[in-house]
Amino acid sequence: VILTQDDLKKIAAYKAVEYVESGMVLGLGTGSTAKHAVDRIGDLLRQGKLKNIVGIPTSKKTHEQAVSLGIPLSDLDSHPTLDLAIDGADEVDPFLNLVKGRGGSLLREKMVEGACKKFIVIVDESKLVNYLGGSGLAMPVEIIPFCWKFTAARLQNLFEESGCDARLRTFGGKDEPFVTDNGNYIVDLYFKKSIGDLKVASDAILQLAGVVEHGMFLDMATTVIIAGELGITIKNK
Ligand code: A5P
Repeated sequence: VILTQDDLKKIAAYKAVEYVESGMVLGLGTGSTAKHAVDRIGDLLRQGKLKNIVGIPTSKKTHEQAVSLGIPLSDLDSHPTLDLAIDGADEVDPFLNLVKGRGGSLLREKMVEGACKKFIVIVDESKLVNYLGGSGLAMPVEIIPFCWKFTAARLQNLFEESGCDARLRTFGGKDEPFVTDNGNYIVDLYFKKSIGDLKVASDAILQLAGVVEHGMFLDMATTVIIAGELGITIKNK
């Protein structure tokens, strides 16, 4: 049997849902991997195998999916502490630091997942990297639309030594900017070399006034479930 990447995503997602217990307040992730977990939670609720779940969605999209599945929802104002969150990631390094936000939902994800006692990340093995930024894919930064070129240029300057290229995210190749659930823009940073100390990089990005949040999730994941051709690997903090 040849497993597709989507099969692997589903395997990781279903494994994570085994950690869900009745009565939990749950952070519901966003993206093609997290979607399988939310579907599974909906199934178990419908079958009566899970009860009294409260879901806190990390995007408008996940909110819609959860509503369509009949998962009871709330928000961080009413539930400032969550038992568990399950979400995908774009990159996972050996220390379980993540890059997230290729789907554009990094800000709400970081708010929700930062409020969880346990945060399980679900990925197929293609997401594993030696260092963040190492996949050659984007490191997303959410910025306010006001003078976005100014902020993008400052971000690029910050990482000049890493060969940074800062590009505004657009809709499928068109010139129209991609707009987040929060009405902001995303600048994707591409690096030719490692950005070095992640905490230093994180602080420097967050210090720019036009920046709202970035997609590095440092020291947040408590468990990473990796599905590969040869089976499931579970890494704990
Ligand atoms: C959403 O903004 C992202 O953080 C996703 O959680 C992440 O990009 C993983 O998405 P996939 O599971 O679709 O790869």
